[in-house]
Amino acid sequence: MSLFIVFEGPEGSGKTTQIHLLRDALRARGYSVVCTREPGGTPIGEQIRTLLHDPQNTEMLPITEALLYSASRAQHVAQVIRPALERGQIVVSDRYAASTMAYQGYGHGLELQMLQQITELVTEGLTPDLTIYLDLEVTIGLKRKLKDSQQGQGEWNRMDQLDIAFHRRVREGYLEMARQEPSRWMIVDATQSIQWIHEHILERVESLLQKRSLGVS
Ligand code: TMP
Repeated sequence: MSLFIVFEGPEGSGKTTQIHLLRDALRARGYSVVCTREPGGTPIGEQIRTLLHDPQNTEMLPITEALLYSASRAQHVAQVIRPALERGQIVVSDRYAASTMAYQGYGHGLELQMLQQITELVTEGLTPDLTIYLDLEVTIGLKRKLKDSQQGQGEWNRMDQLDIAFHRRVREGYLEMARQEPSRWMIVDATQSIQWIHEHILERVESLLQKRSLGVS
């Protein structure tokens, strides 16, 4: 049964851990799961990721960012996400189009409607069935991510080094998008324990799978 799930959240919110737990739980229930990420997920996308996240690329304009993330997404949808959904698999992606709305739109101030049009073009209208937003106060997340990167786990990228006000606008953007579409979004308190978060997410995903199997959209 195909399902498209996206994880969103600020730096250091624990997305990777939760994605792995969800993947393992779904596989244990017999589902075929594909985990992927943005920017990246394809050879071309990974090259675009390197360009986007190089801390030396400080001259990059917000519109260049938006177009590069979108270019990576076009490859990702065509080469990974759509084929997996067509094979009947569950796709779990670490970030998708909501990141562009949050970071380049709410964060940098690019026009949301223009970003929506670009997104529509590159995704051919493919929207997630569920977006799970791991919510965290921005300074906590940035501190966690900095610590991890200093210990050789994960990267400290060009987006991480933008100011706190930027990251606050990003968080507000996510919360607003989630409030606008509660049936397609789930907000999770990322300060709770790993196990608590996992159980809540799994419950919501299982209920979605059950509705799907009953033919309820
Ligand atoms: P992450 O892989 O550690 O989550 O880092 C991805 C970074 O890229 C994060 O700072 C958010 C940013 N990003 C955007 O600004 N726009 C996008 O469309 C995507 C997919 C990511």
